[in-house]
Order: sequence, then C-alpha cells, then structure tokens
Amino acid sequence: VRAGLFQSGGLSALAAGIWLRETGVPARHYIADLGQADRAKLDALAARLRELGDEAVVVDLRPPMAAVASDLLRYGARHDGGYWNTTGAARFVLVSELTPVMRADGCRAFVHGCVGGGNDQRRFAHYGAQLAPELAIVEPWTHPQALERFPDRHAMLAAVTEHGLPLDPGSGADRSTDACLAGASHESAELEALTTPVTRLGPRWSTWPGQAPADPETVTVTFLDGRVTDVDGSGPDPVAWMARANTVGARHGVWLRDVVERRIIGTVCRGVYEAPGLEVLGPAWTRMLQAGLDAAGRELYDRMAAVLGAAMYEARWLEPAARAARAAIDRLVGDISGSVTLSVHRGVVRIERTDITGRVEQQTRFGSGGNRWSEPTTAAPAAGAFSPGDTADPAGATFSPGG
Ligand code: ARG
Repeated sequence: VRAGLFQSGGLSALAAGIWLRETGVPARHYIADLGQADRAKLDALAARLRELGDEAVVVDLRPPMAAVASDLLRYGARHDGGYWNTTGAARFVLVSELTPVMRADGCRAFVHGCVGGGNDQRRFAHYGAQLAPELAIVEPWTHPQALERFPDRHAMLAAVTEHGLPLDPGSGADRSTDACLAGASHESAELEALTTPVTRLGPRWSTWPGQAPADPETVTVTFLDGRVTDVDGSGPDPVAWMARANTVGARHGVWLRDVVERRIIGTVCRGVYEAPGLEVLGPAWTRMLQAGLDAAGRELYDRMAAVLGAAMYEARWLEPAARAARAAIDRLVGDISGSVTLSVHRGVVRIERTDITGRVEQQTRFGSGGNRWSEPTTAAPAAGAFSPGDTADPAGATFSPGG
C-alpha cells in the first residue's frame, strides 16, 4: 500500500517522511510547486530524497494556486482582521490537485505533516473527506509512536539535519512558515507572546517600510469582468500578474498583518501574514467595488465576502453556502471592468486614478448626484494645501447638502 505524502519541505513534513521510511511504509513524496520557493530548490529537495532511497516528484501547481488567489481577490475572502488566508487557500489547492495524482499513482492513503490541533489538520480532513474519501488520512503528529520518536521540533530538526535534507528557510525548531504564490504565514514560539514585537520576525520576501525605496512606484491594475487581467504590463496570466504584484508590494513594504486569531477548534494563536501582492491589489479592487456597486449591492458583496472568508478559513469552500455566496458575487461584479492606478510607497498604497467601464449607468451618477460643485475656476491646489481640518474647499467649490 503506497502512501502519498504532501511534502512541503518544512520541518514537520520532512520529519513525517523520515518517520514513514523508518516504519517501513512505502511512500512517495509529492512536492507541490505553489510558488513558495524557487523551482530549483524544490528539485534539489526531490533529488536529495531520491538519494536517500525515497520516491519523490515535483508537481507544478502555480496555475491553480494563482487561480485561487484570483478568487480570493474577486470574492474578498479575507479572514479575521482583514488578512488574506493564503494558507487555507493553498490547502484547498493541494488536496484538490494532488489527490487525483496520488490516486492515479496507486496511493491508498495520504499523509501530511500538520501537527494536531491546528487549522491545516482540519483542512486536510475536510477536503480529503469531500474530494478523496477513498484515501485514508495518515497524520504522524497525532500518532503516539511517531510522537515517541519525534517528541518535539528539536528532535525533528536533528533528524532532518542528519539526513542532509534541505529545510525551507522559514522553518525551524521554533518557527514555521507556510508559503505559496499568494503569500506566506508565519508562526513562531517567540511571537506567541503578545509582548513580542512583530519586528522580531523577518519577512520571507518583503522589506520593512522604513527600508523601502525613497521613491514611490506607480502601478496600474486592470480589471475585466471582475477579475484582474494585468498588473503593470504583466499580461493576463494570473501566475504572471500575481508575481508582478508581489514584487511591487514586497519592494515597497506593503505586506504585513499581525493577527491574534481563534483557530477552527478554538485555540488562540498569533500569526504574521505576508501577502504583498494581494495587499497591493486589494485596495484597487475595493475602489472598483466602490465605483461599480450601489449601496445595497455593496452591502450584499460585503456579507458574501465575510461568508467566503470564513469558508476558506474553515475549509468549506466547496460547500453549498460558499457556492451560493460566490454565485451572488458573480452576479454583482461580473461586468465590472476598468483600471486603477496606484502609488505604492513605504507600506502605503494610494489610489491615483480610477477608470471604470461596464457600469455606465453608475458612472453617469457621478457629477449629477446632487452635489452642486461649481466648475473649477483656478488651477488644482498645490500639493500640501489641504489639511484634514479644512472645511472650505480649496478650489472654491460650494457644497450644498442634498442639493
Ligand atoms: N493561522 C493561519 C491559518 O490557519 C496560518 C497558519 C500558518 N501555518 C504555518 N505552518 N505557519 O491559515
């Protein structure tokens, strides 16, 4: 009976592989390329595993990962505190894409390296039950014998080092990073203390705002029928525009969410979320929604987005309520097209300009909606002329509430 191991290259998955070999379970490592690291690193891991006598394959899952990232944005599926739950999204991609491959390879079980009590264990269980119920699920880190062999992460690290296995740089005895094309999530022993400043943890790809370039970068995001089709000349391939958005956000320090959250089973944890691309694209898409939806449409969108954020977190993305919520949003945003130009600078995303098409009836309300702005008579006010306390319009326009 062959087992298929979801091999991330992180500490607990590498140790799970060692445990399978030591216990004589014939297993194959499935290393998914989700965009988490250079392909060469993943190939090197596969090569080392084969040297040790294991079976290992690398599967390119960047296209389905990018497609789900596109869904996260379209459906506004954020979790607690507004962060992009890229880890939950990646679990959905892993199970839906790799279980058919495992099945075709003759696997009777799948194995993952998640520790007991975490969200990812629940996600593998839920998606496994929905998508591959005939595959048994083996969880070494809920197994007494495996825990006897590897009582903690220090023991795992010792074995991984001894085997000469290349460990993902975000992973270690006291820290864990989960990464994919859409972003990374970091946890660490030190950060569990709420007194620890987030700056103790280095980002995977990004820079801190204070170290970002002094000059802003301008980037234009194009939307067609409610989906991104281009970021600054990337072209329409979601892998390409996601990568381009990541590069911009990472360089300019737009990425960070520091969150204390309740896990699916109710435990509390602190996580640091690094999603540079989605953090850049999010404000652009929000502006399209503001310009393209009426008030009731926006309210419905926000409610459905909340449903979908929870569904992604809790691995209920395929359930009827989540499908219905996506269908509702499809109806609302399916013809929103246009572009948003952003200025990205030291952790801040500013909207410079919005062009919206396909919602012409909404657009015509702008400028005729009751605010009797007079024609501008002077040049635009100089930069810095506006202070938040100003009540008078510097351009001299008159404002009459209600028209
Ligand atoms: N709390 C987040 C989630 O449930 C992140 C989990 C992070 N996992 C990790 N191995 N670093 O999606």
